[in-house]
Amino acid sequence: MSLQDSIPNNVDLGSDRKLMRALEKWQPNFLEWWRDMGPEGFQEDQIWLRTAISVDASGWAHYDYVKMPDYRWGIFLTPRDGERTIGFGDVSEEKVWDEVPGELRGMLRRIIVTQADTEPASVEQQRLLGKCAPSLYDLRNLFQVNVEEGRHLWAMVHLLHQYFGRDGREEAEALLERRSGDVDKPRILNTFNERTDEWLSFFMFAMFTDRDGKYQLSSLSESGFDPLARATQFMLTEEAFHLSVGEYGVDRAVQRAAEATVADSNDDARAQGAIDLVTIQKYINFWFSSAVELFGGEISSNAADYFAAGLKGRHHEQKKYEDHAALGEIYSMPIVEKGKLTSQEVPLRNAINEQLRDEYVADCERAVARWNKTIQKAGLTGVELSLPSRRFNRRMGIYAEYHFDPRGDLIDEATFEAKKDTWLPTAEDRAYVQSLMKPCYEPGKMASWIAAPRKGVKGKAIDFEYVKFTG
Ligand SMILES: [Fe+2]
Ligand SMILES: [Fe+2]
Repeated sequence: MSLQDSIPNNVDLGSDRKLMRALEKWQPNFLEWWRDMGPEGFQEDQIWLRTAISVDASGWAHYDYVKMPDYRWGIFLTPRDGERTIGFGDVSEEKVWDEVPGELRGMLRRIIVTQADTEPASVEQQRLLGKCAPSLYDLRNLFQVNVEEGRHLWAMVHLLHQYFGRDGREEAEALLERRSGDVDKPRILNTFNERTDEWLSFFMFAMFTDRDGKYQLSSLSESGFDPLARATQFMLTEEAFHLSVGEYGVDRAVQRAAEATVADSNDDARAQGAIDLVTIQKYINFWFSSAVELFGGEISSNAADYFAAGLKGRHHEQKKYEDHAALGEIYSMPIVEKGKLTSQEVPLRNAINEQLRDEYVADCERAVARWNKTIQKAGLTGVELSLPSRRFNRRMGIYAEYHFDPRGDLIDEATFEAKKDTWLPTAEDRAYVQSLMKPCYEPGKMASWIAAPRKGVKGKAIDFEYVKFTG
């Protein structure tokens, strides 16, 4: 099969010789990376996967069995009808750019590389999870997420190759050289160096960390650099599934935890082989506080520059906002001053990151409310999960040098240290969760710590053979 056939695309790849040559050189390195750093094992098995084959909303994906190394990683840009103008910043109303404006080249490359780097990073973080999936259904979902993160890497590498010349080619190679968690060559953003080696963490990652990705992609889909806007817009289509894997995965662990608590004479979920809600709450605290860092500094001149230059807008910039200049507006944010929490007024453009974080937090609150409904439905009363304050357990930004409890109240270091083990997973909690990670590969069966999903994938039954082992 020629490369042109093996890369489904709507960017007229066949007519661009130079781009084809660049991608032809990159593809074998990508496959080598996939074999090395993609899911360990399972490469010869048949996985029932969806593949993006067009941008047609009514039928953009094709579902069938495929071996992962044969997956067709495609390149798709959402088409635009007619002329589009930039929708925000100092360049508002100007025509969008089809090429990279010279003066924005450095910034734009940094934005694309940072986004691109997260895609292979998450595949690396998750590479051992196949060995202990709680069901075939979950195993399939994991691999679906993995191959699509691979496609997102392709989407960003396409932009680097097509629009950034030699620098772009070098960046594309470097994306295959960094490794999640590697001391010498780590991935760019810290959360993507965090270990995700059991399934509760995987679901938390897909719920909280990947959800940051949704908001980043959404603000990039407003970009004045049109190829980036169109690439990220299509990535969001796939991303929605990743987020649902996280949200429903946690939901099913919560359901099982609540049911096991009710069933046990001592309210001890662990005695029933489930994960207890206290531990689940600690994982929420940990993963949420790690993911909120990804939005960047609360007060950020970089974010202001990106916005002013028309590179990165806000989530639903066109739908949600009336004033697209965001000049002369004020954002009021809690800060610590003289040992007390007070509020500070910040020019809105410098608080763009915080505004995006607001959207994200509200979205996470919605999911937590759903989990609490699940607890109620299981007949367990008096127990609720909650989202910690965004100030809790931070390593970066204006809250990093202080200590806060999960409610967001300022506390001293000694109090934090004394309480830490009740707020964040301990080595013992992690060991317990790890001890439950036994593969459960009989179609339709679930591991002891998780409830069955409500329905299967794309109309298939829950006990459908989502993965056919050939070994
Ligand atoms: Fe992605
Ligand atoms: Fe994702």
